Amino acid sequence: MRINEDTLLEGQKVVLVPYNADHVPRYHQWMSSPDLQKLTASEPLTLEQEYDMQKSWKEDNDSELPPYTCTCFMLVSCCHSRTCSLLDMFLCSFVFDFSPIECTFIVLDKQKWGDPSIPEEGCMVGDVNIFLTDPSDPTLAELEIMIAVPCYRGKGLGKEVTRMMMCYGISMLGIQKFEVKIGLDNKTSIAMFKKFHFKELTVSEVFQEVTLGVTVNENVRKVLFGNMDFMLQREYGKARDSRQAANQPFSVSCE
Ligand SMILES: CC(C)(COP(=O)(O)OP(=O)(O)OC[C@H]1O[C@@H](n2cnc3c(N)ncnc32)[C@H](O)[C@@H]1OP(=O)(O)O)[C@@H](O)C(=O)NCCC(=O)NCCS
Repeated sequence: MRINEDTLLEGQKVVLVPYNADHVPRYHQWMSSPDLQKLTASEPLTLEQEYDMQKSWKEDNDSELPPYTCTCFMLVSCCHSRTCSLLDMFLCSFVFDFSPIECTFIVLDKQKWGDPSIPEEGCMVGDVNIFLTDPSDPTLAELEIMIAVPCYRGKGLGKEVTRMMMCYGISMLGIQKFEVKIGLDNKTSIAMFKKFHFKELTVSEVFQEVTLGVTVNENVRKVLFGNMDFMLQREYGKARDSRQAANQPFSVSCE
């Protein structure tokens, strides 16, 4: 989705940047982990397929975004992006002749990112996605989150990233309702989404997953937007250039 291709969201603990080709090898390495595959209900891809996914995301056409998204609805799903997008693309191509619109950010450790000598790939800790999958309901979308690096879990990053992405979805994409699908044994994720007023909608014994959902009402807005100082939006390209410039060695003239 091009809408966020030059967007950087800066929180207290994390920085969200658009998914680009430099991020693919690390991302691919994460997703080779059987634990993460299970937690995110995803299938492994080859490195080449991962590059294709990144490329297809980057080339997504925002013109498919409905013009009236500002009054709408959002579906959030917590299964992993690649599984969702492949399945959704397959179903949508048959049922609706429609490609789901995806908005992906890579989650960076803000403290590491503040040190320009550390390459951006070295700051990666997870990813977060919004999918708009239903052409008949332009406000319907999916949200996914993964804090991939285990030592970063349980430190408030997941909650901050979820809040940032929900705020972004509401204000930039017009999302009004979120749903999330979570493995029944993923207690951490279920507990986290309940903090954002998500309630159980359905349980699938077959898929061993629960669907939680929330409609963005005044109470939810208070939780999300209560203290807007928590997030800044900047231009990604400029931030990346100034980070790279700060890492250039001073040129010393011998003359
Ligand atoms: C699920 C996940 C996104 C949560 O992010 P996180 O950074 O670990 O969680 P946070 O530290 O922000 O904590 C958020 C809430 O989760 C719950 N939580 C966190 N750690 C927990 C633990 N060890 N046990 C039970 N609940 C826990 C708490 O309710 C916590 O809120 P609180 O701190 O106000 O009590 C992250 O653990 C993750 O990505 N795990 C692997 C992939 C995955 O499961 N993705 C979700 C697929 S549906």
